[in-house]
Amino acid sequence: MALNFEVVAKSPATAKAVGIPVASEGALPKEVTLSRATLETLGFTGKVGQTYVVPAEKGAASILIGVGEVSKLDTASLRKASAAFARAAAGFESVSTTLANIGRLDRKVAAQVVVEGMSLATHRYTDLKTVDKKAPKLATVSLVGTGAATTGGVKRGQVIANATNMARDFANMPPAYLTATIFANKAVEIAGQTGLKVEVFNKDQLLAMGCGGIVGVNRGSVEPPRMVRLTYKPTGAKGKPHLVLVGKGVMYDSGGISLKPSDPSHAMMKGDMSGAAAVLATMSTLKALGCTNQVTGYLMCTDNLPSGSAMAMGEVLTMRNGKTVEIHNTDAEGRLILADGLSLAAELKPSAIINIATLTGACLVALGEKVAGVLGTSDKLISQLEDAAARVDEPIWQLPLVKEYRRLLDSTVADMRNIGGPAGGTITAGLFLSEFVGNTPWAHLDIAGPMKVDGDDGWMQRGATAFGTRLLIDTVTSFKPV
Ligand code: BES
Ligand code: MN
Ligand code: ZN
Repeated sequence: MALNFEVVAKSPATAKAVGIPVASEGALPKEVTLSRATLETLGFTGKVGQTYVVPAEKGAASILIGVGEVSKLDTASLRKASAAFARAAAGFESVSTTLANIGRLDRKVAAQVVVEGMSLATHRYTDLKTVDKKAPKLATVSLVGTGAATTGGVKRGQVIANATNMARDFANMPPAYLTATIFANKAVEIAGQTGLKVEVFNKDQLLAMGCGGIVGVNRGSVEPPRMVRLTYKPTGAKGKPHLVLVGKGVMYDSGGISLKPSDPSHAMMKGDMSGAAAVLATMSTLKALGCTNQVTGYLMCTDNLPSGSAMAMGEVLTMRNGKTVEIHNTDAEGRLILADGLSLAAELKPSAIINIATLTGACLVALGEKVAGVLGTSDKLISQLEDAAARVDEPIWQLPLVKEYRRLLDSTVADMRNIGGPAGGTITAGLFLSEFVGNTPWAHLDIAGPMKVDGDDGWMQRGATAFGTRLLIDTVTSFKPV
């Protein structure tokens, strides 16, 4: 259940707990009845991420919320403090706080970030639990604020957090609960609710369009593929920048004929559609956020399975832009479906293309679980992504598209093969994708590392993170032509 937020002039008497921001230095707020020395012995120094619950005999409990040095509070640290507060407040039905009203941040931004932190840190995917022992009681949060700016920020935060939580749910769903067909149907439903035009392409249509990549990857599966195109056109769209987003939607990645080993970590390959979920979630927010740019989203959906009809090694596929690809590993399937999506994106001649994909294990090895890779042909576009990444606390790190490595993709019989050598796997994957974007400024986000986490941490919750969703929303809504 999504948290309910209200903006109030003063803390309501009904609040079961009151969240009190406490800095790491200076005098304690007067509501705090314990001394700094006592709090320190209890392990609470006011650092961002710390909380301490002071129960009350009668009346509301106090929840001390560490906010560090208030002059240094930025969006990332305020979001983190809010997430910690929400976790500490999980046992109370209703809480109030002035957290959205401190520091030097713009009041609207602060409210947005508090809502994001609290909503993201309490969301859980529980559809398949018959009993949810950990269900938070927290339902209502009263933000003691200054009116209109706070209210606007709350609305923004809710739209963004709800979309992000939706993307997490999709990535957490087991493969049989979210086939390409079901996902496309959900996209149609969501598009109808959020003011988007939606078109769904089935296997025959994809074949007729020459999309050999997605059809090839789908060959081993009994579940047909789907491509979804979502279109957002604000009023007065003519002349406005146009962005195209392309998401990898591999509903389950078994590796195909190049079967992955039975390692428990591969249970997360149900989340190999996290890129497509991020694109769908992003698109769903644009009207509500009043985005002034035009945006098109492609969801490239299929699973990757072995069978008698599956794509074999040595097979050659012809992609939408006419280029031929020799298959040397059927587990390098993401780039094959993105090839078609990127080709279609380039045909629209947009201002820029951004794709997002759980593309390479190599990116997880290179940057770890907290940071996504970014590669592309436009440093200006990448720098807009980097600025947005800092604002939303979804860290990204640029890797180079090393031209000299292109020969690693050379094929004896086709234009290229679908894998490079044993080293630099994220870069050779990026070079492969770059063959399909023409001259359009383009950036590729490889979210294989941060697609999931193993334990609750800041704004992330155990399981699928929907990493990249808030990054795309911020980038798309603030985009300036490059
Ligand atoms: N979906 C995987 C990448 C992945 C791995 C995402 C781990 C998240 C966590 C992708 O389709 C894949 O299998 N990539 C191969 C590419 C290789 C065969 C060149 C990989 O990374 O091993
Ligand atoms: Mn794979
Ligand atoms: Zn994959």
